[in-house]
Amino acid sequence: MSGRQTDALDRLWHAYGLDVPDGPVQPVDLAGLFGRRAPVVLEIGSGMGDSTAAMAAVDPDRDYLAVEVHTPGIANLLDLVDRCGLGNVRVAQGDALDLVRGLSEGVLDAVHVFFPDPWPKARHHKRRIIQPAHVALLRSRLTSGGTLHCATDWAEYADGMRQTLDADPELVDAYGGFAPRPAHRPVTKFERRALTAGRPVADLIYRRR
Ligand SMILES: C[S@@+](CC[C@H](N)C(=O)[O-])C[C@H]1O[C@@H](n2cnc3c(N)ncnc32)[C@H](O)[C@@H]1O
Repeated sequence: MSGRQTDALDRLWHAYGLDVPDGPVQPVDLAGLFGRRAPVVLEIGSGMGDSTAAMAAVDPDRDYLAVEVHTPGIANLLDLVDRCGLGNVRVAQGDALDLVRGLSEGVLDAVHVFFPDPWPKARHHKRRIIQPAHVALLRSRLTSGGTLHCATDWAEYADGMRQTLDADPELVDAYGGFAPRPAHRPVTKFERRALTAGRPVADLIYRRR
């Protein structure tokens, strides 16, 4: 980690961080965490936190909860939160699915899954975040009309995501196919890299019935 990241982690984790323990499900009190009741967006696998910080900065009426396992990414997001003065961001460290299990049903306005690890080998597909049981869990935490937004540059995963999301009886495809790239999703390193390599990026935006 850079000195800046280490410093941000030391100073800000106690105020903005949430530890997601392994083992028994830990209930998460969103109103207590954010200190208010506002619509909440969950960003799964926030990486270096660039998307979370950029989206939260222009959307102060919603709260953003990022979950990530990678400590330097968490520290980088805390640094961005500090530098940009973002009161509507909290950062959870641990497994996203463990965090989601600790949320009550119907509490999320949106779930973002941007460039999840593609696990390209068939024998590793079971590690993918977008698969039927996980989608059912994520969808159960959305409000009625809440959005599940996924983006990937991995064409085969994009097709698999679409099949999985289409098969969920409680999700409706907001665009009747892949969505046009939404202007509100910031371009991250992963998207720039994909475009440079000639891999198109697919957005999938579904709503809970
Ligand atoms: C390919 S990166 C994309 C990062 C970011 N969304 C972006 O677009 O720049 C995927 C991220 O998901 C995180 N991740 C993978 N599995 C996770 C899990 N089960 N819970 C939380 N984060 C996870 C990884 O650590 C990694 O930072």
